[in-house]
Amino acid sequence: MSAKILDGKKLASEIKEELKIEIAQLKKTGIAPGLVVILVGDDPASKIYVDNKKKACEEMEINSQVFEMPECTTEEELLKLIQKLNADEKTHGILVQLPLPKHIDEGKIIESIDPKKDVDCFHPENVGKLSIGIGKLLPCTPAGIMEILKRNNIEISGRECVVAGKSNIVGKPMAMMFLEENATVIVAHIKTENLGEITKRADILVTAVGKAGLIKKDMIKKGVVVVDVGMNRLSNGKLVGDADFENVKEIASAITPVPGGVGPMTVAMLMKNTVETAKRLYKNNLND
Ligand code: GUN
Repeated sequence: MSAKILDGKKLASEIKEELKIEIAQLKKTGIAPGLVVILVGDDPASKIYVDNKKKACEEMEINSQVFEMPECTTEEELLKLIQKLNADEKTHGILVQLPLPKHIDEGKIIESIDPKKDVDCFHPENVGKLSIGIGKLLPCTPAGIMEILKRNNIEISGRECVVAGKSNIVGKPMAMMFLEENATVIVAHIKTENLGEITKRADILVTAVGKAGLIKKDMIKKGVVVVDVGMNRLSNGKLVGDADFENVKEIASAITPVPGGVGPMTVAMLMKNTVETAKRLYKNNLND
């Protein structure tokens, strides 16, 4: 039997509809959530991601501004803009699209963002809070994956969750969030030997490596849930994930498609985080 297709696009629409109602109510109380996205350089993939974020803001009636800065932007210039946005009352979320050009220190930029406006949940303070289970903000892609699993009634507690990829954006926070849900977690990565033996253990497999065809049908267990974060452009222009979708779906019990799986959920979670930071910043101001 073929796997259930976990439709992230449909789920993201449902979540955005829920958020729209909340945003309309917030606006009545004088809170108008605002997100600023900063894109440095002209990476084509980043441009598409930023465009999707901007479109979602428009759809949700979240105030948004995109700063498109040239590749030659200096670290100082970027830090100065972030400082200005940190102090701006109308800006509740600040997102610096990664990767940044090589001459800019990514860690320094992330640390310069006010943790209360860190809608990506990349700031060390927020990463630390996440790792001890007291995070109020959750990183968008892993949070979107959790929503896909939970809203499809997929049990996490006590199950073996394998995460392929150890990035700060997906792999590491995903592992933390699975642990928080009482899963048994294995993180595999580029240096992992016998990847197939590891992935075969998974009840839930999250793959975030960025390599087309990496996960083949002989690397998984029957009934596994496969969540594919990969976004790989083939030479014929087709967008595919890390899993060999057509063959893997014959063995898995459920699988996210690419496109239309995790990607739209990441954007929906960004909208959710922007609403969350706006509410929290407003409350803080009232308490000041
Ligand atoms: N680059 C790839 N994914 C992301 C993301 O979720 N946030 C940011 N800021 N940059 C990214």
